[in-house]
Amino acid sequence: MGKTVRAHANIALIKYWGKKDERLRLPLMSSLSMTLDRFYTDTKITESDLNHFYLNGIEQIGQSSQRVFTYLKFLQDKFGVSGNLAVRSTNHVPTAAGLASSSSAFAALAGAFCSHYGFEIEPKELSRLARMGSGSACRSVFGGFVLWQKGEDDTTSYAYALNEKPEMDLQLLAIELNPKPKKLSSTEGMKQATSSPFFKPWLQRNQTELDQMITAIQNNDFTALGQLAELNANEMHAINLTAQPGFTYFEPQTIAAINLVRHLRETGIECYYTIDAGPNVKVITRLKNVKEITNQFVSQFDNVKIVNASFGPGLSYLD
Ligand code: ADP
Ligand code: DP6
Ligand code: CO
Repeated sequence: MGKTVRAHANIALIKYWGKKDERLRLPLMSSLSMTLDRFYTDTKITESDLNHFYLNGIEQIGQSSQRVFTYLKFLQDKFGVSGNLAVRSTNHVPTAAGLASSSSAFAALAGAFCSHYGFEIEPKELSRLARMGSGSACRSVFGGFVLWQKGEDDTTSYAYALNEKPEMDLQLLAIELNPKPKKLSSTEGMKQATSSPFFKPWLQRNQTELDQMITAIQNNDFTALGQLAELNANEMHAINLTAQPGFTYFEPQTIAAINLVRHLRETGIECYYTIDAGPNVKVITRLKNVKEITNQFVSQFDNVKIVNASFGPGLSYLD
């Protein structure tokens, strides 16, 4: 009997945003993330008469179940197994809102697939399998700070933990401004982004930014980490704006949140932001500032939900 597999979502400090190979989900750049304790997905696979995909107790039809079954068929062919499957998954993270649901989803799904068939594989191999479901998922196999080396091909593109249990005083406040599913998926957004005239210069900066981030982590340098994460996110969103045709995931409240972070910083409360493919903002800060920042957001935004996350673990097996 396969187990329920839990994978935690991760947020990139150095972003993955562009593919060299769409089918294998090989990235054009390396990326670096932190795995979060408060956001995760639980997934279990069982045998079934027909293929079924239940998300949060509701059977899914259409695009999202298509994506799951295309992926599972790919895995079945790879391992030489067959048969219909029922997937039951629960997201403890908003789905498709730029809070990295695909990272926890496909790491959990890859783990659940192997558990269902009793395949015992190395974490590195599991990371490669998860990558083929959603690129960012290869990083959710591990906890703490995680690096996805872009590699050359399928066998060399996988993630590994830089530090599974970091000591760094670092909190990530997820500012949920709009939890609704986005219109443009990450897969589509990053495809369009490569048309920006700034895409190439951004790629050329990848190794430097990665090295700087690794140094910041090794030196326990929160300021350098925050500044660089913010710059890297701004670069990604600048590429979206300047793509042809241009687009953005920002909403008016996203800009308001950016301005509040800048304002707080000017008043001596050290914090930085990062933003993914969605309107929601993540604020990076230290434990001592969490209360004040939370209060400021709650008083200035209507209907905002704030989740205070920190480092989370890699894959785990529940029952
Ligand atoms: P996000 O910012 O949430 O990562 P993406 O566009 O990358 O957004 O991916 C969202 C897609 O991931 C969903 O539309 C769905 O197809 C898939 N997904 C999300 N959660 C699950 C889950 N628990 N199991 C399988 N697929 C999921
Ligand atoms: C902005 O991993 O969701 O969150 O590989 O097409 O499924 P696919 O894309 P996905 O892209 C994540 C983009 C990002 C940055 C990041 O997590 O590195
Ligand atoms: Co995603």
